[in-house]
Amino acid sequence: NPIQAPELNKCGTATNLNNGEKLDINCCPPISDRIIDYKLPPVFQMKIRPSAHRVSPEYMFKFNTAIDRMKRLPKDDPRNFMQQANIHCAYCNGAYDQPGQGTLDLQIHNSWLFFPFHRWYLYFYERILGKLIGDPTFALPFWNWDNPKGMTMPPMFVDPKSSLYDKKRNQEHLPPAVVDLGLTNSTDTLQVVANNLTIMYSEMIRGNSDANDFMGQAYREGDESSAKAAGSSERGSHTSVHAWVGDFKDQPSGEDMGNFYSAGRDPLFYSHHANVDRMWTLWQYFLPSNKVPDKRITDTDFLNTAFLFYDENAQLVRVTVKDCLDNLRMGYDFERIDLPWLDYRP
Ligand code: C2O
Repeated sequence: NPIQAPELNKCGTATNLNNGEKLDINCCPPISDRIIDYKLPPVFQMKIRPSAHRVSPEYMFKFNTAIDRMKRLPKDDPRNFMQQANIHCAYCNGAYDQPGQGTLDLQIHNSWLFFPFHRWYLYFYERILGKLIGDPTFALPFWNWDNPKGMTMPPMFVDPKSSLYDKKRNQEHLPPAVVDLGLTNSTDTLQVVANNLTIMYSEMIRGNSDANDFMGQAYREGDESSAKAAGSSERGSHTSVHAWVGDFKDQPSGEDMGNFYSAGRDPLFYSHHANVDRMWTLWQYFLPSNKVPDKRITDTDFLNTAFLFYDENAQLVRVTVKDCLDNLRMGYDFERIDLPWLDYRP
C-alpha cells in the first residue's frame, strides 16, 4: 500500500541523523482539523523559474522582499520561514510515524518519494512567496550547479545584508569557490569542473538502466527506509551540494545545509532543490531515452502516496504523487540553459 499522509497530531520528537541524538527543537507544524484534498488550479500563466546566476536586480529585490516577509510572519503561522524550514525536519528526521505502522518512521528521502515530496514542498513555498509580494507569477530561482557558469554559490545569497543570507555555511566555499560534486577537495578548478560534468553525465544518463535507478527504489507502507535505495541524482549531486554548503567545521552538526533538520533554514536550500527538481524534468522530458524507454513509474503505491502541506492561504491540504508528475500542469517551467554534461562521456 502507499504511504499515507502523516498525522500531524501525532508528530513527535525528531532525531539528528548525523549523530543519532534527539533534537531539542520542536519541528512539528501547527495542527488543523480541516484537511482539503488539493486540486491543481488551472494554469493561466506559466511561471518561469530563472537561473539564480542570471536574475535581474528587480528580481533579486522581489525575492529578497518575499523572504523577508516570510521571516516576519507570526511564528505560529505555518507559512513563516522557520515553520517552512521545519517541514523538512518533520518529514526527514523521524518526527512522523507512518500512520497505522506503530513507531515506524516516515522518511521521504532515499526512495522514489524524494523527487515528488520536494517538488510539492517547493510548489507551496513558491506560492507563499508569491502571495506575500502580491505576485502570482513569482517563480523560485534555481541554482544552476550543473553548468560551469553556475558552479559557485549564487551571488544574491552571499550578501550579509540580504534576507537570503545564512551565516551557517562553509566559509571556505563562498564565491569564487567552485562547487565540487564529487567532494574531491581538489584545488585544481578545471579538474573539478570536468569532474562535475562527468558526474552529471553519469547520474543523468549513463548510470540508469530503469526508472528506479534515477528516481529511487520503491518505498511502501510498512517499509523501513534504507539509504541504499536512493536514486542516482539524490545520492550524487544532490547530497554533495548539501555537504559542500553545510558548515562541518564551525557548526556542531553540519548546519545548516549539511543536516536534514536544519537544511531548510538556509534560503539557498530552495534554490538547490529547484535545480534538483529541474533535473527530474530534464530527465523525464529532455534526455535521450534509449536506455530508459519508460520513465514513468505506474505503481499505484507510488502514485497514491500522500503528503500534507499548508498552502499559500495557510490551509492544510493533502496532495498526492500522481498530481506532481508534470511540472507544466503545476504551472511552472524552467529557463532554458544549455546542458554541457549532455555529451560529456568520460
Ligand atoms: Cu530533503 Cu536536499 O533534502
